[in-house]
Order: sequence, then C-alpha cells, then structure tokens
Amino acid sequence: MTAPSAGGRFITLEGIDGAGKSSHIEALAAWLRARDHEVVVTREPGGTALAERLRDLVLHLPMDTLTEALLVFAARRDHLLNLIEPALARGATVLCDRFTDATFAYQGGGRGFDLDVLAGLEGWVQHGRQPDLTLWFRIAPAAAASRRAEARAPDRFESQDEAFFARVDAGYAARCAAAPARFAALDAGADRSDVWAQIEAVLLQRGFA
Ligand code: TYD
Repeated sequence: MTAPSAGGRFITLEGIDGAGKSSHIEALAAWLRARDHEVVVTREPGGTALAERLRDLVLHLPMDTLTEALLVFAARRDHLLNLIEPALARGATVLCDRFTDATFAYQGGGRGFDLDVLAGLEGWVQHGRQPDLTLWFRIAPAAAASRRAEARAPDRFESQDEAFFARVDAGYAARCAAAPARFAALDAGADRSDVWAQIEAVLLQRGFA
C-alpha cells in the first residue's frame, strides 16, 4: 500500500450530465479500499446536511446565475469545512462526484457567468485547496444527450439543450488546459469496461495503488 505522507488525497470526477461518471465512483472506492485506503465518497453540491439542502434548491428552483453560484459555493464551504478537510487531515482518500470545475463549466461555460467572479469565490471559499486528481469523463454532447434521454425526470441542468452542454464541455476543456497536471481526460464515450480500464490506468500511473 502507498500511504499518503501528509494528508490524504482528493480525487474529483467531472463531466457533462450523461457522461457516466457516477456509475464508476463506487467501483473506484472499492478498488482503493482493496489497496488499504480509507475512502470517503461524497458529491457536490452536497455532502453535508446543509449542502444537501442547498443542492435541492439549486437543482429545482428557478434562480439567477449569481444566486446559483453563491449557493453552490456556500454548499462547498460547508462541505470543505465539515467533511472534506477533516477526512484529508486524517489521511483518507476523498472521492467527490463534481467540485469547482463543475461551477466553471456549468455556471461559467453553460450559463456564461463571469469567470473572474467565480475565481474570486473559489479563492475565498477554498484557500488554495484543489483536487490532487480530476477524472474528466469526456463525451460528445450528442452521445450524452441520448444517454440522458433514458434517465429519470430531468433537473434544471439535465433539461438544458445540446448547445448548453457544448458550452459546459468547453468550460471543462478550459479548466483542463489551465491545470493539465491535475486533469486526466477519459474517453467516456467508450464501453463501460473500457472506461474502467482507463480509470485504473490513470490511478496506477499517478501512484494511487
Ligand atoms: P449530478 O452530479 O449530475 O448528479 P445526478 O447524477 O444526481 O444528476 O447533478 C448535479 C448537477 O449540478 C449537474 O447537472 C451539474 C450541476 N452543478 C452545477 O451547475 N454547478 C456546480 O458547481 C456543481 C457542483 C454541480
């Protein structure tokens, strides 16, 4: 086992709705646990009682984009203070289904909101905390749309059109270009077993075994 030397590691999963990231998170947790990591699986918006309440508002009530961004960052602040930072401090590996890259992609890219304001909020809320690894499940927006069509009743984001998701994808691409060492872009349009093989290869390459 590779024990983290100073604090645990923070892994985030990102991608447009329908990319399939959520279907791999438990398998990833099991893979890490089999290698003696303490693993905490969580999600954003959400992860604490307060943040889950905020998630429900953000996903279901109409609001302007600044309000949306403020609520997402408020949820993130509570999540960091009460769940993520304590888990990392005791050496756990935190697997988080979405984090701040999603805010840049959805509110910034998809909704066209001011990236400088988002960067200011990111600095205030995170004090430099960033994921150690971001698995970006990248899929063509048209392919993700057909996967979403098979899913349950859509929320405020899932019901957006393909042009919105093309902008979200561009938002992720910009974040990836700004932090290439942190990102691992996966071909999420491939079969499920192939996507899993890509995930495993990234973890091995980056010393998570
Ligand atoms: P998602 O993580 O896809 O959960 P589920 O699989 O249950 O649908 O849904 C969360 C939605 O929230 C997703 O559409 C993206 C959106 N979102 C933002 O707009 N900004 C953010 O900062 C985050 C974390 C999520």
